[in-house]
Amino acid sequence: MSITFSKVSYVYSPGTPYEYRALDGVDLTLEEGKITAIIGRTGSGKSTLIQHLNALLLPNEGEIQILGRTIKAGEKPKNLKPLRKDVGLVFQFPEYQLFEETVIKDVIFGPKNFGVSEEDAKKKAKEALALVGLSEDIYEKSPLELSGGQKRRVAIADILAMDPKILVLDEPTAGLDPMGTKEMMSLFYRLNRQFGKTILIVTHDMEQVYQYCDDVVVLEDGKVRIHQDKDTFFRDAKECESMGILPPALIRMKEILKAKGFTLSENIHSVDALAEALREEVRNG
Ligand SMILES: Nc1ncnc2c1ncn2[C@@H]1O[C@H](COP(=O)(O)OP(=O)(O)OP(=O)(O)O)[C@@H](O)[C@H]1O
Ligand SMILES: [Mg+2]
Repeated sequence: MSITFSKVSYVYSPGTPYEYRALDGVDLTLEEGKITAIIGRTGSGKSTLIQHLNALLLPNEGEIQILGRTIKAGEKPKNLKPLRKDVGLVFQFPEYQLFEETVIKDVIFGPKNFGVSEEDAKKKAKEALALVGLSEDIYEKSPLELSGGQKRRVAIADILAMDPKILVLDEPTAGLDPMGTKEMMSLFYRLNRQFGKTILIVTHDMEQVYQYCDDVVVLEDGKVRIHQDKDTFFRDAKECESMGILPPALIRMKEILKAKGFTLSENIHSVDALAEALREEVRNG
């Protein structure tokens, strides 16, 4: 199954002096089961796009097909609860939305709200907290007592406890330290590869895209400029730079080495592989 946007446009504050067409005829088909990065300059429409996936924003024109439902311009969608459960949307800086007096209560809230019994909700909450790497000693703490990184994990556990089929994350690692970022990205990778979750990540970090994502969607002025697998996408560093995107360090390094006469195969995807290829070429003169 896939998620399809057909000629989707979204206009903020229509008919006012603040009117702004943030999405402009978006056609996009996202395959389920993949990790897709949504990238593009600030203001290109990334956050607006992803809020259509659980009908938080409704299109002014066009339609979206997702998990067997159609969300159409001009039609008020009915019975949104199953969609909101199946499409877990994590906003940027989600930690500001923690509101219960303890961590465990915050995570239990979601599944309970969707009709799960107290006991099962607690079980789901514990599983979700374990997934994000938080241990039992923080269950009874107030979210206010936690560090920024811990709060972020709780907020992600809030969504995971609802066991969504599709996980949508708006800049989930913004502001985390390098270790926290790596752990968070590894978690999303595991949720995809081990549990089959479809994952969409809005990010400005090309190292993450290169390391963890399968496909890349580039938005530009509310339109899809490119939708490709990541290897194809990063193959052309100059094209990336023309879109204001700085390719990952490994790709830039390969470009520099090629300019200096090294041949280097397309299949080098790690620093170790690059070092080995260089050694071979130097040895062979
Ligand atoms: N509530 C709003 N009212 C009017 N215009 C808005 C509103 N929210 C966003 N916009 C405009 O819509 C455009 C797209 O915004 P959006 O937040 O989707 O961009 P983005 O790609 O997520 O950017 P960033 O990388 O900065 O998060 C921007 O030009 C923004 O100014
Ligand atoms: Mg945004």
